[in-house]
Amino acid sequence: MTSQDQSKLKQAVAQAAVEEIRSDLARDTILGVGSGSTVNCFIEALAALRGDFAGAVASSTETERRLKAIGIEVFDLNQAGTLSVYVDGADEIDGDFAMIKGGGAALTREKIVAACARRFVCIADGSKHVRQLGGFPLPIEVIPMARSHVAREMVKLGFSPVYRQGVVTDNGNQIIDLYDQLIDDARDLETRINQIAGVVSNGLFAHRGADLLLLGTAEGVQRLT
Ligand code: 5RP
Repeated sequence: MTSQDQSKLKQAVAQAAVEEIRSDLARDTILGVGSGSTVNCFIEALAALRGDFAGAVASSTETERRLKAIGIEVFDLNQAGTLSVYVDGADEIDGDFAMIKGGGAALTREKIVAACARRFVCIADGSKHVRQLGGFPLPIEVIPMARSHVAREMVKLGFSPVYRQGVVTDNGNQIIDLYDQLIDDARDLETRINQIAGVVSNGLFAHRGADLLLLGTAEGVQRLT
């Protein structure tokens, strides 16, 4: 698939997400908005509904910037309470709607906003839908002083950790990516990684996966529940 084709699929799922959430919107509705190139298409499509809802909580400073640029008010999550819906992309999503996220290093804030939402709508092009998670490197956000410790613990568990050089998260932390390991039990691994001292969060969204997947394919957008 060319990058132009992939971009068209992203725009199609972004538009489908706007149609999906339209009925959730009221004057006091605050949406959760994720991060990444697919979400950027969603933000562009959302501009048409700008006056129909109160605003959004952003999962990254980049998303916050983009929302504000099109005139959507951005709220602090602590003021927003429970969100009716969160829209975000994924690096991989499996048949149970467990995901790997964090290719853009926004995993921790994404996980927090997702935890505050009643419904998680995942928007992705067909290349993201996989039988088993792990083809895409699994990110771990770590406190900087714990980076080597966390990496050693991951080697003990049989993983190949790689420091994502030059990346600092919105929270001032660093990222380790785990390469080349298919994941048998995503919930168990999500929990186990979180037990390691110095881990802020990891990119497995298995305990809180998506509720709905809008998948962009050459045949059109599939609505999978
Ligand atoms: C960022 C994410 C994104 O949702 C994920 O990387 C997908 O991005 P894209 O839509 O650009 O493929 O988790 O941390």
